[in-house]
Amino acid sequence: MTKQILEKFDMEKIVSLCRRRGFIFPSSEIYGGLSSCWDYGPLGVELKRNIKQAWWRAVVQERDDMVGLDASILMHPRVWEASGHLKGFSDPLVECKSCHLRWRVDDLKDSNCPSCGGELTEPRLFNLMFKTFMGPIEDSASVVYLRPETAQGIFVNFQNVLNTTRKRLPFGIAQIGKAFRNEITTGNFIFRSREFEQMEIEFFVKPETAKKWFNYWLEERLNWYVKLGIKREHLRLRPHTKEELAHYARDCSDIDYQFPMGWSELEGVANRGDFDLVRHASHSGKSLDYFDEEAKERITPYIIEPSAGVDRSALAFLCNAYDEEPDKDEIRVLLHLHPSLAPIKVAVLPLSRREKLAKVAKEVYADLRQCWMVQYDDAQSIGRRYRRQDEIGTPFCVTVDFQSLEDEQATIRERDTMNQIRVPISELKTTLAAKLSGEELFVLPPGGQIWKEG
Ligand code: GAP
Repeated sequence: MTKQILEKFDMEKIVSLCRRRGFIFPSSEIYGGLSSCWDYGPLGVELKRNIKQAWWRAVVQERDDMVGLDASILMHPRVWEASGHLKGFSDPLVECKSCHLRWRVDDLKDSNCPSCGGELTEPRLFNLMFKTFMGPIEDSASVVYLRPETAQGIFVNFQNVLNTTRKRLPFGIAQIGKAFRNEITTGNFIFRSREFEQMEIEFFVKPETAKKWFNYWLEERLNWYVKLGIKREHLRLRPHTKEELAHYARDCSDIDYQFPMGWSELEGVANRGDFDLVRHASHSGKSLDYFDEEAKERITPYIIEPSAGVDRSALAFLCNAYDEEPDKDEIRVLLHLHPSLAPIKVAVLPLSRREKLAKVAKEVYADLRQCWMVQYDDAQSIGRRYRRQDEIGTPFCVTVDFQSLEDEQATIRERDTMNQIRVPISELKTTLAAKLSGEELFVLPPGGQIWKEG
């Protein structure tokens, strides 16, 4: 099989699993779909929620130097003048069909991509921002834009946050939210879409410490993906060349993931210097500087920006987790998702639908769902039910069998190893909590024992 076929084949497996099991559907599917817009189904919404929660926990909850924000999507139109988005995205552009770099037509020396030599799209007068109108009259005075990045909401709130939290440099503001870009080329499933979610940090530092914090955040963010199970060898740092740097950036490095279609950007970490605060101060006429108590002077902080995509992270976690194993005459498809990302943490499976058994299983289910997203499944054979849970990445299945009625115990079966332990039903919650936090399966609670798969 050639590399190209294999790559296409791999992404199609992810797309098919997402569709089949309710992770991700094409938007407005009953009307034929809407190009590069996607709907997250019951499992997809949980996966995304878990990714966002893991990010928020790591960058806000567990840190003293970060606070959160949720700015509105619609912002004053002058924001986009100051940010450079209005001007920067209004020129005739072509885009490379292979590396997706965009080029102004008047910068091109020949008809191929200056970076990789790839084929270019036809030139178009293109503004990346979606335009709409505020209020009942559709005239130029009422034009507003759907934000193409969440970052600007943070810059314009810099003084508000400074005044209300009394944070001192260095400190950061984190935000998760929707962004919209009328992308010229889209594709590769949820990798590049026109509506997507970003997780952005704007970290304000003293200018002379910017380099140090840039390196710090690169490492911190890379490690976040590794801690959540992404294989280190499938991640790389790719520093931007001078020509590639965005208009606001002094330095930038992408964190790339090896997706089925090749190495592509998962997250960008940029040193934006003082560009944004200076521009917003001059356009708004409001001071956005900071009094440095040590130096006894007013300074404009530099900004280090780790900017990640929720959808791209979801795709990377799914690709990284996808696995197939021979299973007797069939193939066991499974997602080795990190427990904190798995949409469903535990499945409760009664061995039969008999009332006596169902009663105990439903009590277990009702108890466990107080803590986690839990599924109850009593349809078809136990083997098939295990496979269904493996395919959606559920870390643990709890089986209630006839013996449970006698000994008040249930089995816990682990997704990756398929090993089982048997524990008192009264110990299930604490045992599962420990296992979901990373404890070895064979560390047993009081009364627990190692069990053989039936
Ligand atoms: N504020 C800086 C900024 O927006 P960016 O590199 O344009 O930088 C940051 O975007 C991240 O947002 C990307 O690394 C990617 O994860 C995500 N992203 C950008 N455009 C996207 C799109 N069209 N579809 C999905 N995710 C996108």
